[in-house]
Amino acid sequence: MSATRTTNHTPSIGPGTVALVTGASRGLGLALARLLADRGASLILTARGAKALDTATRELNSRADVLALAGDVADLAHVEHLVGAGLQRFGHIDVLVNNASTVGPSPMPALEAYPLEALERVFRVNVSAPLHLAQLVVPQMRERGGGLVLNVSSDAGVNAYPSWGGYGASKAAVEHLSRTLAAELEGSGVRVYVVDPGDMDTQMHREAELGVDLSHLPRPEAVAPALVHLMEREIAPFGRYEAQSLLAQSLVASTSGEHGGES
Ligand SMILES: NC(=O)c1ccc[n+]([C@@H]2O[C@H](COP(=O)([O-])OP(=O)(O)OC[C@H]3O[C@@H](n4cnc5c(N)ncnc54)[C@H](OP(=O)(O)O)[C@@H]3O)[C@@H](O)[C@H]2O)c1
Repeated sequence: MSATRTTNHTPSIGPGTVALVTGASRGLGLALARLLADRGASLILTARGAKALDTATRELNSRADVLALAGDVADLAHVEHLVGAGLQRFGHIDVLVNNASTVGPSPMPALEAYPLEALERVFRVNVSAPLHLAQLVVPQMRERGGGLVLNVSSDAGVNAYPSWGGYGASKAAVEHLSRTLAAELEGSGVRVYVVDPGDMDTQMHREAELGVDLSHLPRPEAVAPALVHLMEREIAPFGRYEAQSLLAQSLVASTSGEHGGES
């Protein structure tokens, strides 16, 4: 973890908080949405598959005010409509979680043979879309003097794993965008965090490692409390965090224990 400077902004998640979470129909995004709903936050959610998003929304609706619109984060019109509808419904957005992502072609090709069109798609989803969302959401955060942009990254953005190069390069790019955005937002009260959730047993990971048994890996429900911990307890204007390290330091235990939201 590396964090710089502190801000006077005191974060808290509860009734009145509005969080936009991409990729919220399953995996880490859904686990996080559940924890935020438990705290009474209002949610703006998206994912491409309308059926899975609808199932998630019906579950969350019983304990949170949810606006869910199905679509692709790389679709500029969808994202503009999502943010516009969210601001119209809730008046503001406090937290943006750029969680939706793609590993690219499955099986993942080595860079020597990586189809460039596929690489461009990976960068549109994993880099341009998070920036586009930040561009739409940050101005009203600036105006209100606070907010959080949390970009979900990966150790593949730092380490060189054969065949993970396209995805890894996109995660490295979103990390640097985050670092630069934070520098540009210095003094605004808007926090920008990068989080590496660590290996999890999810659909995306199974697509990346076809045929490999991942059942020994943590479930996203075990990792999501680390993200809530950052939202509620961290005050640095910028940081790169490893969820597993936060969990190991049991920094998160008190956060999750208070609310008992995760399994
Ligand atoms: N799993 C791991 O081991 C691991 C490790 C390091 C980092 N991460 C990161 O953790 C984050 C969450 O991944 P996960 O493992 O929870 O994956 P997941 O279970 O496969 O969930 C991905 C979510 O994103 C949505 N999504 C994918 N592409 C999208 C698009 N173009 N537009 C809108 N929504 C989209 C999916 O729904 P639709 O498919 O219906 O759109 C789904 O809701 C990602 O940023 C990933 O890079 C995961």
